[in-house]
Amino acid sequence: MCGIIGYVGAGEALPILVEGIRLLSYRGYDSAGVAVAHDGRLVVEKDKGRIEDLAPSWDRQKLSGSSGIGHTRWATHGRPSRVNAHPQQDAAGDVVVVHNGVLENDIALREELEAAGVKFVSETDTEVFAHLYARLFRGDPVAAAREILARCHGRFSLVFLHRAQPGTLVAVRRGSPLVAGYASGVGLVASDVRAIAGHADRAVEIEEDEIVIVTRDGVAVHGADGARKDRAAHAVTYDDSSLGKGAFPHWMLKEIHEQPDRLADLVAARIDPVHGRIRLDELGLTDADLAGIERVDLVGCGTASYACMYGARAFEALAGVPARMVPGSEFEARAELLGPRRLVVAVSQSGETADTHAAVEAAKAAGARTVGVLNVRASRIARSVGGFVDIHAGPEICVASTKVYTGMLLSLLLLALRVAQARGRGGAALAALRPALDALPDAVRRAIAGHDHVREVAREVHRAQNMLYIGRGPDHATAVEGAMKMKEISYIHAEGYAAGELKHGPIALVSWDVPTVALLGQGDARTKMLANVREVRARDGLVIAVAGEDDADARKVADMILPVPTVDPWLAPLVHTIPLQLLAYDVARRRGCDIDQPRNLAKSVTVQ
Ligand code: G6P
Repeated sequence: MCGIIGYVGAGEALPILVEGIRLLSYRGYDSAGVAVAHDGRLVVEKDKGRIEDLAPSWDRQKLSGSSGIGHTRWATHGRPSRVNAHPQQDAAGDVVVVHNGVLENDIALREELEAAGVKFVSETDTEVFAHLYARLFRGDPVAAAREILARCHGRFSLVFLHRAQPGTLVAVRRGSPLVAGYASGVGLVASDVRAIAGHADRAVEIEEDEIVIVTRDGVAVHGADGARKDRAAHAVTYDDSSLGKGAFPHWMLKEIHEQPDRLADLVAARIDPVHGRIRLDELGLTDADLAGIERVDLVGCGTASYACMYGARAFEALAGVPARMVPGSEFEARAELLGPRRLVVAVSQSGETADTHAAVEAAKAAGARTVGVLNVRASRIARSVGGFVDIHAGPEICVASTKVYTGMLLSLLLLALRVAQARGRGGAALAALRPALDALPDAVRRAIAGHDHVREVAREVHRAQNMLYIGRGPDHATAVEGAMKMKEISYIHAEGYAAGELKHGPIALVSWDVPTVALLGQGDARTKMLANVREVRARDGLVIAVAGEDDADARKVADMILPVPTVDPWLAPLVHTIPLQLLAYDVARRRGCDIDQPRNLAKSVTVQ
């Protein structure tokens, strides 16, 4: 999704803006641009494409100046192009603005401005803000920003720079995250603290409907009524080590390798070593509340929705509560079916996904209880939900999720067990799982160590145009997520199915050049999976089996094996997903794809 950076100080703004754009690029974008106050003018450079390709051609002389704004755009209103990229300007070149979010009364305001003689040059809703601000500004930026808040509807974070006040950035937040920071002689503003961490000592999280004036002297926060607000700043303590890829060629590979440690941290944080209870201190629900829950709806989008599939199964099997996954965009809050005995669990890496957020708001309005399983504490969904479970995976940069997916699975398993405990039935399940949870990080490490097997399979399948993934039980979600990883980053068309469904349709696609990845699993599921694999082989299909390290039968029925350690069936999806992450990675690499920033995708999608 879009990213914002603004700087005002004594030094050159351009390098800081370009660096900020680069640090924001993990969110996914299709265009980038900057505006710098130079010699009484606002100079804009912008276009579609990557900052690495755009910035070298920008004229550093013309863009020389000590204040400016920058932006990464992910197209919503109008295709990616130079004219639609941000910053947007008014006709006279008095105002530049960068924007995250969506202006909902765009059409009405556009018509009003056109009637007053304004000529629009772009298809963006953002351009409305530039013209409107230019007309509203009479020397007092707070007054103009108040008018913007009063007249504009929707979700928007904005930063304005006016030619008449080149040392003043004016930021407004409604709905999309924004943080202001400062150090001696420097003021900054950004949509993510990551973009300013290298230059700000202290930062203020901007809240809903606040207006912030950023100058070299610091940051002044005002409410929507214009009154000055006293807001505490916190030290910027961004962990620098997580800002670099280190020796890894891609963020995705680094994040895959982080999983053993992240999962070990999560197990340590969540299980009380003395009493063996699950610690979810921010749930905001008592044991009596949890015991009274009659249904659970797990809501998420994309990869998070596949984690919800797994979570729903865990709630039903372990806590004995009916549960289902609902994609965020499909959640319908039927008031007569909701109420305090319905728990809606919102699962999201970013905590910003608009569809998931809308589901939470609708559930709350219908009286349901809400809990967020989220990776970002300072996020929109975190602010909306009644209770919070921190996935605790650290920043995830690659657009395709890996470490947060396994963090989601583990968090949902523990949440299901916590509900089971409150209902007097989780003790035995947790006791049985304890040694397996302790051994989980090592099992994941061993699965990663099997990367050489994955490379061989990647060599075999990377020219495929279609792939099938099949699994049963908790590994149904693994199959669907494995297929998603493959299509997201390699652009191979891949579909994941419940293995039993294969013969009810998809088997028509089976052939040697449509490889099938089969998650064999254990016990009864494995027996049935072996039969499904034979069905594929009988139709000349190429089968790659994710199978236990010592599964001799798997070697007899499959063409290629991705060996994995055998673990408790509830933890198996966390281990089985590892070779599928690595396979997507290796195949994408062989195909020369942009692994960390796949085409058309954004890391967080804040439009519905
Ligand atoms: C986007 C991303 C997906 C992600 C989904 C949900 O579509 O491209 O990778 O799974 O959003 O994101 P969330 O932050 O809510 O987990």
